[in-house]
Amino acid sequence: VIYLDNAATSWPKPESVISAALTALRDEGGNPGRGGHRMAIRASRHIAGARSALAELFNIADPARIVLGYNTTWAINLALKGLLRPGDHVVTGSMEHNAIVRPLWSLERQGVAVTKAPTSPTAGLDPDEVRKAILPGTRLVVTGLASNVGGAVSPVADIGAVCRERGIPFLVDAAQGAGSIPIDVAAMGIDLLAGPGHKGLLGPQGTGFLYIAPGLELATLVEGGTGTESMRPEQPAALPERHESGTPNTPGFAGLAAGARFVLETGVGAIGGREAELVGRLHLGLAAIPGVKVFGPPAGAPRSSLLSIQVAGIAPEDVSAILDEAYDMASRAGLHCAPDAHAALGSLGEGLLRLSPGFFTTEAEIDACVAAVSAIARDAAG
Ligand SMILES: Cc1ncc(COP(=O)(O)O)c(C=O)c1O
Repeated sequence: VIYLDNAATSWPKPESVISAALTALRDEGGNPGRGGHRMAIRASRHIAGARSALAELFNIADPARIVLGYNTTWAINLALKGLLRPGDHVVTGSMEHNAIVRPLWSLERQGVAVTKAPTSPTAGLDPDEVRKAILPGTRLVVTGLASNVGGAVSPVADIGAVCRERGIPFLVDAAQGAGSIPIDVAAMGIDLLAGPGHKGLLGPQGTGFLYIAPGLELATLVEGGTGTESMRPEQPAALPERHESGTPNTPGFAGLAAGARFVLETGVGAIGGREAELVGRLHLGLAAIPGVKVFGPPAGAPRSSLLSIQVAGIAPEDVSAILDEAYDMASRAGLHCAPDAHAALGSLGEGLLRLSPGFFTTEAEIDACVAAVSAIARDAAG
């Protein structure tokens, strides 16, 4: 299969990820943090390994401030619902994923005010637009590092500087870009970083994380057993336990630790550079096909490793189905859980076809995709 759906979840995974997850399942299946026996201690090491690799990747001084959970959506929900209260104001972008849009929509119903600052489909969220949208009651600024529809990368370090200047916490959704675009929470003024383990960090599905900066205390989404302070009825205040009740996905985090180590050893710069070559080649190839329109930043401009297209005369769902059935190629059609982004791009009706190469994609696969889309466009033109 030619897998061009890495923006949804990355595949293939490095062998080290598969073997770490298998080892955790086969040989080290104790419950981490919930027993003193050796099996439990070995399982705990996987969890600690994931936290320390993430801390190294994102320049997080204290790994205990990284809470491990299911995915980016969970992490964003914890950050938004843990921080915002009725009467607060929040600034976000106008092209965000539903992982931000939907929790904010329900918080609005509880009395939180939301401003969607205009976001450029080619250059992301402009720090000046954020500055203009800030009010005296602004409690949070939240945006994605990169658009999951067009691929535009937002200048998060500049937005972080605006937030620092105004003393407002800054939450970044790093679902697109973590592992390929350098992220330094200290240098970029990021107070809350939500990310997936299963995309650019090359870990298993069902893994994600939230970094919480010192000084920020979030209300809990889930409470229960943490393996600590068990005599007390109230949830412990200490991180990471406060937000990690119940048995974790140990095989998943064992794999995530190995995936994040793979990224550290290969280098975020090398991975991002390789993906830029691949997506650049795809962009040039597709843009040259009559009837194909490429959305998002122009060729050569910064973009995460994805692009979305429209093929004249044929619906994106049908192009995706033909790619799958006739060419054994995985792509994603539709609204990509981001109707606001499609509204900004003018593609809200049928959505678009998204193609997202990963670090392991080859030039031959990119060329095969361009040839397949070219044949589909020719047929659609009659
Ligand atoms: C920009 C963006 N935010 C959030 C998410 C949700 O990520 P997850 O599937 O890890 O919850 C995605 C997933 O596609 C995304 O692209």
